[in-house]
Amino acid sequence: QTTYLSDYTPFGWQVADVHLTVKLAPKATRVVSRIHFQPNPNAPAQDFFLHGEELKLIRAAIDGTEVNPELTPQGLRCDVPSGPFLWETEVEIAPAENTALEGLYMSNGMYCTQCEAEGFRKITYYPDRPDVMATFTVRIEGDTPVKLSNGNPTDSGEGWAEWHDPWPKPAYLFALVAGDLVNHPGAFTTMSGKEVELNIWVRPGDEGKCAFGMEALKASMTWDEEVYGREYDLDIFNIVAVDDFNMGAMENKGLNIFNSSCVLASPETSTDANFERIEAIIAHEYFHNWTGNRITCRDWFQLCLKEGLTVYRDSQFTSDMRSAEVKRISDVIDLRARQFPEDQGPLSHPVRPESFQEINNFYTATVYEKGAEVIGMLKRLVGDEAYGKALDLYFERHDGDAATIEDWLRVFEDSTGRDLSQFKRWYSQSGTPHLSISEDYADGTFTLTFKQETPPTPGQSDKAPQVLPIAVGLLNPNGDEVVPTTVLEMTDAEQSFSFEGLSAKPVASILRGFSAPVVLDRETLAEEKRFLLAHDTDAFNRWEASRDLARGCLFDMVTEGAGPDMAWIDALEQVIRDGDLDPAFRALMLALPTQSELAQMLHAKGVTPDPDAIHAAAETLRNAMAERWSSLLPELMAATRVTEGYSPDAKQSGKRALGNAVLSLQTRLDGGKAAQAQFDAADNMTMQLSALSCLISAGAEDAALAAFERQWKDDRLVMDKWFALQVAATKPESAAPRAEALTKRPDFDWKNPNRFRAVMGSLAMNHAGFHAKDGSGYRLLAEWLIKLDGKNPQTAARMCSVFQTWTRYDAGRQALMKAELERIAAKPDLSRDVSEMVGRLLS
Ligand code: ARG
Ligand code: ZN
Repeated sequence: QTTYLSDYTPFGWQVADVHLTVKLAPKATRVVSRIHFQPNPNAPAQDFFLHGEELKLIRAAIDGTEVNPELTPQGLRCDVPSGPFLWETEVEIAPAENTALEGLYMSNGMYCTQCEAEGFRKITYYPDRPDVMATFTVRIEGDTPVKLSNGNPTDSGEGWAEWHDPWPKPAYLFALVAGDLVNHPGAFTTMSGKEVELNIWVRPGDEGKCAFGMEALKASMTWDEEVYGREYDLDIFNIVAVDDFNMGAMENKGLNIFNSSCVLASPETSTDANFERIEAIIAHEYFHNWTGNRITCRDWFQLCLKEGLTVYRDSQFTSDMRSAEVKRISDVIDLRARQFPEDQGPLSHPVRPESFQEINNFYTATVYEKGAEVIGMLKRLVGDEAYGKALDLYFERHDGDAATIEDWLRVFEDSTGRDLSQFKRWYSQSGTPHLSISEDYADGTFTLTFKQETPPTPGQSDKAPQVLPIAVGLLNPNGDEVVPTTVLEMTDAEQSFSFEGLSAKPVASILRGFSAPVVLDRETLAEEKRFLLAHDTDAFNRWEASRDLARGCLFDMVTEGAGPDMAWIDALEQVIRDGDLDPAFRALMLALPTQSELAQMLHAKGVTPDPDAIHAAAETLRNAMAERWSSLLPELMAATRVTEGYSPDAKQSGKRALGNAVLSLQTRLDGGKAAQAQFDAADNMTMQLSALSCLISAGAEDAALAAFERQWKDDRLVMDKWFALQVAATKPESAAPRAEALTKRPDFDWKNPNRFRAVMGSLAMNHAGFHAKDGSGYRLLAEWLIKLDGKNPQTAARMCSVFQTWTRYDAGRQALMKAELERIAAKPDLSRDVSEMVGRLLS
C-alpha cells in the first residue's frame, strides 16, 4: 500500500501527555502507557486508530474501564468518548528477538531503541506520526546499572529510574537505553549561562575512545550558538554508542544514539577520515535539536525539511572547523558518487517525494545531500545576511511546530520579498539538470548563453526550467581575474548574460564552488582547462578543471585506445609541487575520478561502459603518473612527514592524505616496499590502513593482513576495516571470491549491519569486481540480500541500491543483474522494504 503526500489529514486527537513504564526483560518486556487524549478541533471526524506492530496486547482501558479494541496487523481501532479521556495499555514485546533493529532491541546485552521513522509503533500503541507531539514521562524498571531516556532525570531508586522530557515531541524522537554502560563525562555552559551535563555512554573498555567525540560535541554547541543563535534546552545531553545500528546516528531528544563507528575514536583505531566523519555526525545530530526536534516535520514527505537543512548546517560547521574548499570538493565528490546515480536512474525521486510504500527507503542521498544543495542555492541567491534573517524568522515563527516545505519557503519569501514559486521546483522535480554553455566575444563584450534541460525521470516526463544560481568568474589571458565571482540567476530554459568593457576575450570559470547540482555539458578545449588548472582563483574549479582533464583522458583511453594525457600529468605536477597549497587539496587533486563515475559519463555520452576496460585504463593512467613522477614521489613523501604527536586536525590529516596518495603511486614503482615499511612503522590507523591498502592493490598483502588481524582481532570496528579493505582494494577478479571467503569466517557476524556492509558494501564499491562478467559479484550479493531480508529488511533494502545503475551496462550484464533482482523479488515473504526497492529497480 502506498502513502501519498496529497492525502495528508491531521490526526483526530491531540496528546496532552504520555506516561510510559517500561519493565525490561529480554524476551518479555512490558510497556505500560498512560496517555491523555483530547479531540483535535482542527481535524475531520475519523476512527480512533493507533499504530502498533508486533505487539502482544495485555490490556487496554479508557478512563479506568477495560476496553476490547479491534486489532489489525497495523494497529488497533477503538470506540472512544467524545471528550478528553485517559487511554491505558499494557503490551509485551521481545527486544532480544528483534533483529530488525527498529523499535526496542538488544545489542550486546544492552537495550536500545531506534524509532525514526516508524519504530515507536513496535514499542506501544500510539499515533506514530510526527505531527502528534507530546511531553513524555518515562519510568524504566530493570536490573541494568544504567537506564536512560529523553529529557531530564527526575528520580531513581533501586532497579528504577524516571525521566521527564518537558519539550513536546513526536514519538520518533523517543529513546530508551539500558545496560552496563560507563560514561565519559563533560560539561558545557550555554550562552545564557546554563550548565549542561554531557555524557558519552559506552561499553566498558571503550572509555578511551570518547574524548574526541566530547570535544566535537562542545564545539558543535558553541558553533550553533555563535552562528545560528541556538542554545541547548535541557539540563543534560547524553550520547550512547551502540554496535548494532542500521544507520549512522539518531537525534532523539537529549539522548542521541550512535552507531559506535560514528562516535568512538582513537588515533590507533580510527583514521583521519573517521575522525572528521565523527565530528560531522556529532554536529549533525546535535544540530537536529533545533532543526528537527524543536521544529519537526508535519509528515515524512517533509523529511528534507530537517535533513537537508541539518546536512547543510553540518557542512557549514565542518567548513569552519577545517578547510571550506576541501569540504566543498569532498561534498561534490560524494554527491556525484551517491546522489547523481540515484537521480539519474530508476530510483530517482524528488527532494520531497510525493509517495512511498516504506519511508525508510527515502532516507536517501537525494533527500539529504541534494536537500542540502537546495539550501546552499537558496543562500547564494538571497545572500548571507538575508539567509541569517530568514533563519531567525524560521525559528521564531515555527518553534514547537511540525512544519512543511511551504512553511520553510514562506519564511524566505516574507523576509526577503522574493517570489520562490519557481525555486520550489527543486523540491518537486526529480532528475539532474544538464547545463550547456556557449560563449561569444565581440567588441569588449563577453556573452555566456546557457541552456538547461532535465531528462525525464520515473513518473515525470516533462520538466520545467529551474532556478539556477551560476557562479562565474572571468580571467584574462595572462591569468589575472578580471571579473570576480558573480552569481548569475538563470530562470529560463535558455538565457544569456553579458560582461562588458573587457580588453580581451576572457577565460570563463563557470559554476564556481559547484553553485548548482547540475551536470555541466561543456566542450572546453584541453588547453583552456589546463589554464584554469593553473590559474583559477576558485579552488573548486581548479580541482574541477583537473578532474575534467582526467575524465577526458580516461574517456579517450577507453573509447579510442589513446595513451595517457601527458600534458595533463605535467600540468598537474605544478599543482602537486606547489608547497603553498594545502596538502589536503593537493591530495584531492591526485585522485582519479572513480570507475563508477566514468561508467556514468560513458553512458551519458552514449557509450556502453565496459568495467574491465575502465579499470584497465585507470591502472594505465596511474602507472603513467607514477613513472612520470618517479623522482618527485620520494621528495613529496618526505615533505609530508608528520613529526609531532598525532592529531586528527585538518593540518596533520591533510599532510597524511597527501603522503598516502603519493604512497599509492610509489607502490606502483616499488611493488610495496615503501608501503611495507610504513605498515611496520605505523603508530596510527591512518598510516597503517593506507599502507595496507597499497599492499593489497600491489598483491603483496598476505603478511600484513595476518599481522593486522593478530593485532586487532578483538576490536570490532577495526576488524570491519580489515574485512572491507581486502574486498574494496583487491584486483577485480579477486573481489567476489574474497568476499565469499570472508562470509565463511566465524567472525562474519552478518546480522551486524557494520560487518555486513564491510563485506557486501565493499564488493559493490569494487566496480570491476562487482561487475565481473560471469555474474559472480551480482549472485553473491543477491544471495546475501535475500538472507538478510529475513532478519533486517531496512539494511537489506538500503543495499539494493547497488543495482540502481543496472540498465547502464551491456546486454549480458544487464540480463545477469535483472535475473538476480527477479530472484530477490521472488523470495517468499519478502519485506515491504526490499519489495519496494526491487520493484522500482525493475520498473
Ligand atoms: N535522523 C537520522 C539522521 O539523519 C537518521 C535516522 C534514519 N533512520 C532510519 N531508520 N531511516 O541523523
Ligand atoms: Zn539527520
